[in-house]
Amino acid sequence: MKFSITLLFSLLGIIGISQTHSLPKLKYSYSAFTSSIDSTTMEIHYTKHHQAYVNNLNKAIAGTKLEVLPIEEIMLNASLTPDAVRNNAGGHYNHSLFWDILTPKKDKKPSAELYKAIEENFKSIDSLKKLMNQAAASRFGSGWAWLVLTPEKKLVVTSTANQDNPIMDVSKVRGIPLIGIDVWEHAYYLKYQNKRADYLGAIWNIIDWDVISNRYTAALTDPLMQKIEKDNWQELKDFHKIIAVTYHSIEENNFLPIKELSGELYLKALILKKSTVPNSLKNEKTKSALEKISLLSKEINSLVEKNIKEENIKKKMEELHNTFHELQENCSH
Ligand SMILES: [Fe+2]
Repeated sequence: MKFSITLLFSLLGIIGISQTHSLPKLKYSYSAFTSSIDSTTMEIHYTKHHQAYVNNLNKAIAGTKLEVLPIEEIMLNASLTPDAVRNNAGGHYNHSLFWDILTPKKDKKPSAELYKAIEENFKSIDSLKKLMNQAAASRFGSGWAWLVLTPEKKLVVTSTANQDNPIMDVSKVRGIPLIGIDVWEHAYYLKYQNKRADYLGAIWNIIDWDVISNRYTAALTDPLMQKIEKDNWQELKDFHKIIAVTYHSIEENNFLPIKELSGELYLKALILKKSTVPNSLKNEKTKSALEKISLLSKEINSLVEKNIKEENIKKKMEELHNTFHELQENCSH
């Protein structure tokens, strides 16, 4: 079901139909967790705070190209979006995750697969909880504590400020979040006031390990992980920048940038070819694309140096641009 909804949103995005974001349905009542979170906090948190993120997100993206994108795609490029988009997209995603990983049911345990991964990365569930609580307690001001699966398939504990999260390109640790604990005062202040540590102690009693185990299994093969991994490939990003400057000017019949930068284009192509390819992209397709990119860049550089007809340079640049986008599908420049 989750897959088909994601697929539907992606299709809507491809054909350019805008999406309106909305509050997810809760699986429990506001009073389901009174020993950990009081019902007034639950109700205000959901109907006022989360609803405001949803409303403000819809307002911030209305009429822009972000309107047709799934929320994950918006967050991947958070550094390029206005603060209103970054904060409210994060606010909506983070709270949707938070509601999803809570349950009133008792005695939830991680799946055998997740249990093994936790033991390998943290030695025990108790030390994971301790690390999470440390991350949450030491987050100055408002923010979130996270358990993240990274592209290297490692489980890592981290925290972010405000409504940022590890999917965003602004986050120090990047990956798919499995657990997110809200440490904004609005999440606990009525019951706990300034005692954030007491709230953190109580939250583990209502964590839904079934949902988190499913998130772990899904994250292992989620295509989003490949996008995050590719985003961490700095040499690919650097090459993207120079392609953006040179190729798109040529599309407008301006050959000045390529004439000035063809040497740098070739150099960046060589650096890209020699760079460490992220694990999930190590395959024949990547290898031959990198080979072709360096070859084409070399040819373009020599065409420029020999002052060959602009028409020929344009043709080669088109070929280079297409080959580059075999590696990087998202032509966002
Ligand atoms: Fe919150």
